Amino acid sequence: MCGIVGFSGTREAAAVLIDGLRRLEYRGYDSAGIAVCDGERINVAKVKGYVKNLAEMTHDGADIRGFVGIGHTRWATHGAPNDVNAHPHLSSDGRFAVVHNGIIENYALLRQELTERGYKFLSDTDTEVVAHLLELYYAGDMKKAIMKTAARLEGSYSLGVVCLDGSGRLFAMREQSPLILGLGVGENYFASDVAALVPHTKNVIYLEDGEFAELTPEGMTVYDVTGHEVKKPVSRVAWDVEAAEKGGYEHFMLKEIMEQPACFKATVEPRIKNDRIVFEDFDLTDGELKSIDKIIITACGSAGYAGQVGRYVIEELCRVPVTVELASELRYRNPIIDEKTLLIVISQSGETADTIAALKECKSRGARVLAIVNVVGSTIAKLADHVIYTWAGPEIAVATTKGYTTQVAVLDMLAIYLADRLGRMDSVTYERLITALHDMPGKMQRAIDLNRNVKKLAKRLSHHNDIYFIGRNMDYAVCMEGALKLKEISYIFAEAYAAGELKHGTIALVEQGSLVVTLACYEPLFDKTMSNIEEVKARGAQVLAVAPEDNKKIVSKADDFLPVPRTEPIFTPLAQIIPLQLFAYYVAKERGCDIDKPKNLAKSVTVE
Ligand code: BG6
Repeated sequence: MCGIVGFSGTREAAAVLIDGLRRLEYRGYDSAGIAVCDGERINVAKVKGYVKNLAEMTHDGADIRGFVGIGHTRWATHGAPNDVNAHPHLSSDGRFAVVHNGIIENYALLRQELTERGYKFLSDTDTEVVAHLLELYYAGDMKKAIMKTAARLEGSYSLGVVCLDGSGRLFAMREQSPLILGLGVGENYFASDVAALVPHTKNVIYLEDGEFAELTPEGMTVYDVTGHEVKKPVSRVAWDVEAAEKGGYEHFMLKEIMEQPACFKATVEPRIKNDRIVFEDFDLTDGELKSIDKIIITACGSAGYAGQVGRYVIEELCRVPVTVELASELRYRNPIIDEKTLLIVISQSGETADTIAALKECKSRGARVLAIVNVVGSTIAKLADHVIYTWAGPEIAVATTKGYTTQVAVLDMLAIYLADRLGRMDSVTYERLITALHDMPGKMQRAIDLNRNVKKLAKRLSHHNDIYFIGRNMDYAVCMEGALKLKEISYIFAEAYAAGELKHGTIALVEQGSLVVTLACYEPLFDKTMSNIEEVKARGAQVLAVAPEDNKKIVSKADDFLPVPRTEPIFTPLAQIIPLQLFAYYVAKERGCDIDKPKNLAKSVTVE
């Protein structure tokens, strides 16, 4: 996912922009660049590769003078990752430079029109059309040129524009791709996410779709799509710059695994008042709740696997049919949805294109939409009817961990809340579950403490090139996330299978030495899962079991064991996933993989 930054102040802009880009690297990218106006010209430096290449190329920005500028990390959509396609892009007359996050759907037509008008394109990008449109429409009034340009664009975009008019002005525009303004003292900023702003200010303004802003060192003005000034509330960022840094850990992923007990607590505790679960922004009436005849959970990647856990819990407690649908499929499936459908959309970033599209499709068919997201002010948060935030703080590693467990935490609370509101849970059960929620941070910490030795086990098992994850009921749902974690960061082929389904095909692949990770925490089916262990061991498999720490039976059967503490049964996935996250982390480390930025992956895929 691309990232954009902007700075307008009374000190050199380049170093500030480069530092801002470093804080957006986790989003995934393949080239970077800055453009700074020194009053006489706009100086551009851009390069394929990482921000560190840009820093080396410009001596940490010292070669690029000026107090106002923009920067960009590009995740290639249109045009290969190279120096020419890197942003910023200049207009032919050198008066404007542009950075962009999103996709301009009608860029081909615009490019053709501009080419016929004599404009020369240097790159293969969709973004370059914006630079030439600004030149086409500029007749001395930047605001008008911005509005005329925006009126021609279709698609999703957050845009940053620096213009050579000596005023130190910057322009920022938002349409379906987040853009946040930062308010400083004698300087102002914009960025795709607050991680780039927090080192300078915690006072931010979230632009809405269609809005654009004009920034100078002294202040900023926000306009709506008609060009009228709008008064915007200033929000306060809830976390500080250390939260988005490694804090002494070798990788963000390990830090974020270790943060999970605290993130669970931050997500859950504020929503338990007088031992009752309270959601600020989920205000369905009893009638509306009782009219829901089905729930669809939709997401991508790990968020979808959190939904798989949520499905078991919600159905078990609420007795309402729940299905989990891949957003990339749901958006095109002509789904049967109406106003009695509750759509739960799960997304850490709140910007995943497939998930946004599925949300819009279902909303257009009448579904009521509840979003579970981690990023305040994100697109999905704004499109949904109701939002429950996961207070996990910034998640930097591409492979999510605390994002996933806080999503499961919200789903657990939601299931209890709905069951109570629907009159399907007695008070004794309710109180027991509330107590268990209070206990979960300690249980998650114990899951970490019990698996400090997983590094040695991972070293011994890191040579496998395909690994099976099997389990039943909720164990199976956790297998899906455990397998994905391993795939994402160690590049080992790993797949989750319903343990009862193994004998109907996949067991044909199990041979001497195959590694089968078996999750055996779901007590009602424990004996069945033990039989599955026998089945695969009879064919020569090695079994790595994940089970309650006091389960002696499985220790006698499995070759290796990842213990988890006993918990309230429906909360077990929150503890069970932790040794699997650590296992994936140390296997990837042993294999020398780029753990925080795995190849081909992005933190959030904002394109289809
Ligand atoms: C993928 C990420 O691109 O998108 C995964 O690599 C993530 O970690 C998935 O689970 C969905 O992202 P989000 O932000 O919608 O939860």
